[in-house]
Amino acid sequence: MSSAPTAKDFAVGASADVPEGGRLVVDAGEKTIGVFRVEGRLYAYENTCPHMGGPVCQGMVIPAVNEVLDEQRASTGFAFNEADLHIVCPWHGFEFSIKTGCHPAAARIKLLPVNVEEQDGTIYVSI
Ligand code: FES
Repeated sequence: MSSAPTAKDFAVGASADVPEGGRLVVDAGEKTIGVFRVEGRLYAYENTCPHMGGPVCQGMVIPAVNEVLDEQRASTGFAFNEADLHIVCPWHGFEFSIKTGCHPAAARIKLLPVNVEEQDGTIYVSI
């Protein structure tokens, strides 16, 4: 949405409703949408898991877990990546990067993105 909101855009909340690392799950028209903010940018997805339709946007939000390798590429353990927040679907635990909408191990499994923008302190989604 690069111009004034149109009839297909839904005002879903105030910018302050989605602080850094936060989330808002709202109904917009016939759909339920999850809006997230990571590193200042908003991301929005339909609240339908690509696995079996669970309410994925209402799952736990956690940092990605990355394996840390030494110079010989041997594992030295695991570390949270705070810059790559993931949503964990509450039904069966499928995990998705909020920035890409993709499952970290199978990028073809992904959330349905929704256009989201904020203007004058209001968040709009276009569906
Ligand atoms: S419905 Fe989301 S992991 Fe199964």
